[in-house]
Parts: sequence; structure tokens; C-alpha cells
Amino acid sequence: MSDYLNEMFGLNGKVALVVGASSGIGAQFARALARAGADVVLGARRAEKIEALAKEIAEETGARTLAVSMDVTKADTIVAAFDSAEAAFGTCTIVCNNAGLAIPNWALDDTEEDWDITMNTNLKGMWRVAREAAKRMMAAGTGGSIINTASILGIGVGPMQTTYSISKAGVVQMTRALALEWQRFGIRVNAICPGYFKTEINAEFLDTEHGQQMVKMTPARRVGKLEELEAPMLMLASDASSFTTGVALPVDGAHTVRLA
Ligand SMILES: NC(=O)c1ccc[n+]([C@@H]2O[C@H](COP(=O)([O-])OP(=O)(O)OC[C@H]3O[C@@H](n4cnc5c(N)ncnc54)[C@H](OP(=O)(O)O)[C@@H]3O)[C@@H](O)[C@H]2O)c1
Repeated sequence: MSDYLNEMFGLNGKVALVVGASSGIGAQFARALARAGADVVLGARRAEKIEALAKEIAEETGARTLAVSMDVTKADTIVAAFDSAEAAFGTCTIVCNNAGLAIPNWALDDTEEDWDITMNTNLKGMWRVAREAAKRMMAAGTGGSIINTASILGIGVGPMQTTYSISKAGVVQMTRALALEWQRFGIRVNAICPGYFKTEINAEFLDTEHGQQMVKMTPARRVGKLEELEAPMLMLASDASSFTTGVALPVDGAHTVRLA
């Protein structure tokens, strides 16, 4: 990287936590952050997955990595994960708040349990993580960057995604509200709103004929490649975006701007 780009986007000496790092978008984010120079803490429930990935990333990039088990529906595991991260590398000043799930259903088929687990993970889970991250950044006086993975379904809606869309719209509003409150502490809060990227959350659906037809009807006529999320995330993580906060950035090949 040229000195110019490195000064703007480089993350040498920074500590990043990626929540939901065991697969898909979070795994890609963890790898990208390490390539950009950060020490990376990988959090998720599947310990064996994050441990293997942490080792692989350290070997590939030379970055220091750490795997910490955490469940965003359990506040004590979030506190413990931040404690471990801090003990190993210091305050996490970049937090990719990315854990999420989807239970596709027609609205009338959704159960109370579907609603509760979706909201508790996608919205309240991100709220728990964001607050814990900010408390620690404030205590350390470091400021930092929190990047919530929302969705284009937090901006528009789609069939069979009522509860998911409501949870992600909540994440978009939470992003703006927290950005406003925490600007004076030097803490930026932004959201990335991915379009369709093939990961464990949707691979089964995207492989169906209906799924493939749906992708062909999008403006880009293809799903995104996971690496296409890296630059937007690194921009928001780095000092390059020091005056950018409260933004919900679609990365979707024009999916959200289409009217017809
Ligand atoms: N793929 C897309 O097209 C797309 C589009 C828009 C938004 N998103 C969002 O992107 C984020 C990542 O999803 P993905 O597409 O990469 O799917 P994925 O491969 O299924 O990844 C989901 C991640 O969330 C973690 N997770 C789920 N529940 C958790 C919990 N209770 N505690 C801690 N971690 C938890 C999973 O880890 P464990 O199971 O190991 O805990 C996994 O690492 C999600 O927020 C999703 O809503 C995805």
C-alpha cells in the first residue's frame, strides 16, 4: 500500500473485534481487518470455527488474533468477551457488530418464538454489543468506530422477511441514535446495509430456482462477492472516515434505489 493510502486506511496498532466472525460476512471482515494491520478478536458461539479461523488469519497475515466465545443474547458472555479481548490486546476501538440470523416466514406464520429470537439476536444483541463497546471506549478515552451490519431489508422490505426487516430497520435507527449521542466521545457509529451475498444465512434459498430468479431480477443480476464488502467496511473502520457517522451505507449493486 502507498504511504498515502496506508496513512488514510491503514489499521496498524488498532484492535478490532468482529462479532459473528465464524462464517460469511464476519469471517471476511476479520480477514480484511487483519490484512489492513489490526489485531483481530473473533467472536461467535461456534468456538471451533473461530479458533480455526483465528489461527488461519494469523498465519496468513502475521496479525495477532484471538478467538472468544460469545452469544449476543447473553449479556455476561459479551462482557467476558470484551474482558478477554482487552486483556490480550487492549481496548477494542473497532467493533464490527455483525451477528445475525433470519427466519423467513409469512407474517402470519411467524411464531412468538421466531419474533423473540430474531429481535433478541439482530436488534437487542447489537444494542448490547454497541453499548459494551462504547462504555469501554469512553472509559479508555480512545474513541472508536462501531460498524453495525444492518441490511437492505432495514431500508426496504421483501416477502417473508417481516420480522427480519423490522429488526434491521431498528438497527438502522439505532445506528443513527447512537451516532448522535456518542459523537462527543469520538465514537462513530455507522451501518453497512448489504444486498444479497451468499452465506450460510441464505445459501439454501439462493440455490433454489426461485432464489436464482430473484437474483436475476436485481439491477446487478448477481449476488455480491464477499470481498466487495471489504472496502466499505475498512473505510468506516479507519480514520479515513473520521467525520462520517450515523450513516447506513447500502452495498447492494443499486438494489435499494430501484423503483420498478
Ligand atoms: N448474506 C446476506 O446476504 C446478508 C444481507 C444483509 C445483511 N446480512 C447480515 O450480515 C450478518 C452476517 O450474516 P452472514 O450473511 O454472514 O450469515 P452467516 O454466515 O450465517 O453468519 C452469521 C454470523 O452471526 C453469528 N451469530 C448468530 N447468532 C449469534 C449469537 N446469538 N451470538 C453470537 N453470534 C451469533 C454466527 O455465529 P455462530 O453461529 O457461530 O454464533 C455467524 O458468525 C447478519 O447480521 C445478517 O443479518 C447478511
